[in-house]
Amino acid sequence: MQGQITNHQNHAASHFSGGCVNHPNTESARILVVDDHPSSRMTAVALLSLEGYEVLEADSGPQALACVARGKLDLVLLDVMMPGMDGYEVCRRLKQDEQTRLIPVVFVTALDDRRARLRGIEVGGDDFLTKPFDQLELSARVKSLVHQKRLNEDLDHAEQVLFSIARTIESRDPNTGDHCERLVSYGQAFGRYLGLSRSQIRDLMWGGYLHDIGKVGIPDSVLLKIGSFTPAEWAVMQQHVLIGEQICQPLRTMRGVVPIIRHHHERWDGSGYPDGLVGDDIPLLAQVFQLVDIYDALTNERPYKPAYPPEEALAMMQQETERGWRNPELMAKFTAFIHEYCGASSLSTAEACFQRTELPTPAVHDDAKTPANHPENQPANQPTEVRSQRQF
Ligand SMILES: [Fe+2]
Repeated sequence: MQGQITNHQNHAASHFSGGCVNHPNTESARILVVDDHPSSRMTAVALLSLEGYEVLEADSGPQALACVARGKLDLVLLDVMMPGMDGYEVCRRLKQDEQTRLIPVVFVTALDDRRARLRGIEVGGDDFLTKPFDQLELSARVKSLVHQKRLNEDLDHAEQVLFSIARTIESRDPNTGDHCERLVSYGQAFGRYLGLSRSQIRDLMWGGYLHDIGKVGIPDSVLLKIGSFTPAEWAVMQQHVLIGEQICQPLRTMRGVVPIIRHHHERWDGSGYPDGLVGDDIPLLAQVFQLVDIYDALTNERPYKPAYPPEEALAMMQQETERGWRNPELMAKFTAFIHEYCGASSLSTAEACFQRTELPTPAVHDDAKTPANHPENQPANQPTEVRSQRQF
């Protein structure tokens, strides 16, 4: 079967008259069996077909990857030792690909091969089975992993729904433009500069998209109002951080993003909202996110203001820091980051900065925030200032 992929659709079931085969709740789960030895492969194929699965088989690593790319799979049963590309490499590639990372990979190893198991764990394998197969064990593990995979997909879909809502909000507000896309790039770059962990950087990037998701609950009459807020409207606008928290909190994967959503309008001196947190009581990622959010707002054009050059934007942020609104230590690092990565003194726009750092080039038009006068950033007890500053 060299170079072939074979598909067994409920192969064993067809041998049973009367439909008495006990199909697990597979909903036509598709399983790929990868092994260069036809006899080993056929054993697994026969056992899985008996369980009612749709089984495909491949006899090499490249064939396995081609098969995965071709069709939607629910699990891969993968031999470790194969000529050419071994099972570890196949698994590593599957787990690195956003499209295939959720497919469970079960390694087939020799009994008590501890090294093989450790290596399998390193490359992201989900489980292990030993030859010869125990049918009950194979059945139980495959059923469990297929079930888990579908739960993970549902979770993945839930995340995608949240990102879609966030994008809808962005498009609903003509002043926001591609602000979020740039925040994702800045968040990633500044997070790396600070030496944050991978998960923290991911949270920062997700925060770029999701920080204002709560605006979905703000009436158009407030969100899109041209002119100043009344105190009541200002109170409504501030609710967006709490609404956003409520939307994202049920998802465990959002655990690290929720503090950014709730606290991205706090101020170092306690004059922000919603909780008036002071100093390092403000979650670190919310502090980090706030700096990139403000910087991007300053360095991009708004309906009522030009795009400030990086040095001017940094100077304005420094003034705010001296006023007590930002963490001085973090602001110093952010200034160094912009200088180091963007060469602020020699550049006139943030767009040029992005080009220098080989980050995605942002659109120039955008959003309407400024750190000092954006309504979201105003203390609740200063609606007069808000009225005088709001210009969109
Ligand atoms: Fe906000």
